[in-house]
Amino acid sequence: MSALASALAVAAVLLVLVDGGACAMYKVGDLDAWGIPPASKPDVYKNWPKSIKFKLGDAIWFLYPPTQDSVLQVTPDAFHTCDLSSTPLLKLDDGNSVFNLTKPGRVYFISGESKHCLKGQKLWVDVPKADGTHVQPSSDDLAALAPTPGGLPAGIESEAPPDGARSADDDAQPSTAFRTVAGVGSVVAAATLSLLLL
Ligand SMILES: *[C@@H]1O[C@H](CO)[C@@H](O)[C@H](O)[C@H]1NC(C)=O
Repeated sequence: MSALASALAVAAVLLVLVDGGACAMYKVGDLDAWGIPPASKPDVYKNWPKSIKFKLGDAIWFLYPPTQDSVLQVTPDAFHTCDLSSTPLLKLDDGNSVFNLTKPGRVYFISGESKHCLKGQKLWVDVPKADGTHVQPSSDDLAALAPTPGGLPAGIESEAPPDGARSADDDAQPSTAFRTVAGVGSVVAAATLSLLLL
């Protein structure tokens, strides 16, 4: 770990201690950018959410070149079929998009770029209720994760645990301290603090 990374980690931990149970912001996939999964991590968007215990009020952060990608929040059905033709529930295309997990239930995202979703650039997150329990998945939710007849590229299909929660997975990446930094302001604060610590 570089000195800067160590300092950032220390700063992030300090902030979390100071902030108490404040909301966290997580960078989607822990990749350089929201994009087609790299060949080395074809299941990155399927595995990434399993590594995090999301809380109501947390936020997820999509970072990408706005000329090359976008984020669509879609219905379970559009997620399942990678449908780009229907109007999305929400479109984010500024390249630096924060989605706030303010409503319990399952939220679905796909890339707005043609074919990207079919190549695995699709993500769902279970947002828990304030008490930490999960909303029971609807039949639409279950259908969204069913394998597509004819077969999609490996790694797109997913299984839903009975209680709607995800279990830890062998290939899920451990959370990094950086991701527990609360809010954009705190990211700046953490960066500033880490410079002081250097
Ligand atoms: C999430 O919350 C932040 C801070 O309140 C706000 O700036 C941002 O627009 C919100 N994102 C969405 C997609 O509503």
